[in-house]
Amino acid sequence: MEQLVYLNGEVLPYDQARVPVEDRGFQFGDGIYEVIRIYAGRPFTFEEHFERLRRSAAEIRLPLDIARLKADALALITQQGLAEATLYLQATRGAALRAHAFPTTSQPTVVMLVRPAQPPDEALLRTGVRCLTVPDDRWARCHIKSTNLLSNVLAKQQAVEAGCYEAIYLRDGYMTEGASTNSWAVFDGVLWTAPKSNYLLGGITREVLLQLAREDSIPVREEPVAAHQLPHADEFMISSTTSELLPVVELDGRPVGNGRPGPLWQRLFTRFQQRITAECGRGLARIP
Ligand code: PDD
Repeated sequence: MEQLVYLNGEVLPYDQARVPVEDRGFQFGDGIYEVIRIYAGRPFTFEEHFERLRRSAAEIRLPLDIARLKADALALITQQGLAEATLYLQATRGAALRAHAFPTTSQPTVVMLVRPAQPPDEALLRTGVRCLTVPDDRWARCHIKSTNLLSNVLAKQQAVEAGCYEAIYLRDGYMTEGASTNSWAVFDGVLWTAPKSNYLLGGITREVLLQLAREDSIPVREEPVAAHQLPHADEFMISSTTSELLPVVELDGRPVGNGRPGPLWQRLFTRFQQRITAECGRGLARIP
C-alpha cells in the first residue's frame, strides 16, 4: 500500500502532499501535534489523545474541529491499512505572510500520516536502556504538545551521542521528564513520577500506567523527585506512546539498582501489554 497523507481534509499520495513555504508551523513552530499508537489495526487510547489535542489547541487558541478530525483519523487508519503503526497528526496556524501576531486570514494546516511502527526491541526490554540527565532549558508551557521541540531535539541528540536512549530533564534540582518520554523512579517499592504541571507533558501512557499501578496496588506518588535522590533509585523507567515502558539500567554512567530491569518494571510492563490486548485485541507475544 502506498504511503498516504491527509492534508486539510483530503487524502493524497505522499508525493503530492504540499504545504506552503510560509506555513507558520515551518516559520514559527506555531503548531501542535499528537502521536497515537495503532495495535492490531486499532488505535490505542484514541479518545485520550484527541482530548489532549483539544486542550493543546485551546492553549494556543487554534480553532480545530476535533470531531471531524477524529472521524478523518479513523478513516485514514482504515485506508492505510497497517496493523502495527503510529498516527502522526500535526496542526499549525496555517500559511500567511510572515508576522508574529496571528494572521486574520489563515486556515489551520492539518497533516496526518500513518506509518509502520514496531514495539520496542526485545533486546531493550531484556537489557534495559541508558539515560543521562540534562538541564531543563525549555519554556514554561511544556504541558502543551507543541511542535516547538528544539530543546528536546538537542537533548535527545546529546543522549544519542553519549550512547544513551534518552535525556532526562532536571529543572531547579528536580526531575521533570525525558526529551520525549515521562520518567519514573522506584524507591523502596514506591513508584514516583513528577506531578503534572506546566513543566511537563501529561503523557497518555503516564495516565494509563498510573491507573494500572493503582489497580495492581502498587504504591504511587505523583510528587517531585529530587535530582540528588536519583542515584539511590532501585529502578528507573521511561514511558511514551512509541517507547511504551522501558527499563532504565544506567543513569549518568552509574547502574540503577543492580543494573538490570527490575521487578516493578516487569509487573507494570506486563499490565501494560494486557491493557493493549484488552483495548486493541493484540496477542500477548512480547512479555519478556
Ligand atoms: N512524545 N513527554 C514528552 C516531552 C513527549 O514528547 C512525550 C511523547 C511524552 C509521553 O507522552 P505520551 O505517553 O502521550 O506519548 C512525554 C511523542 C511520542 C513524540 O514526540 O514522538
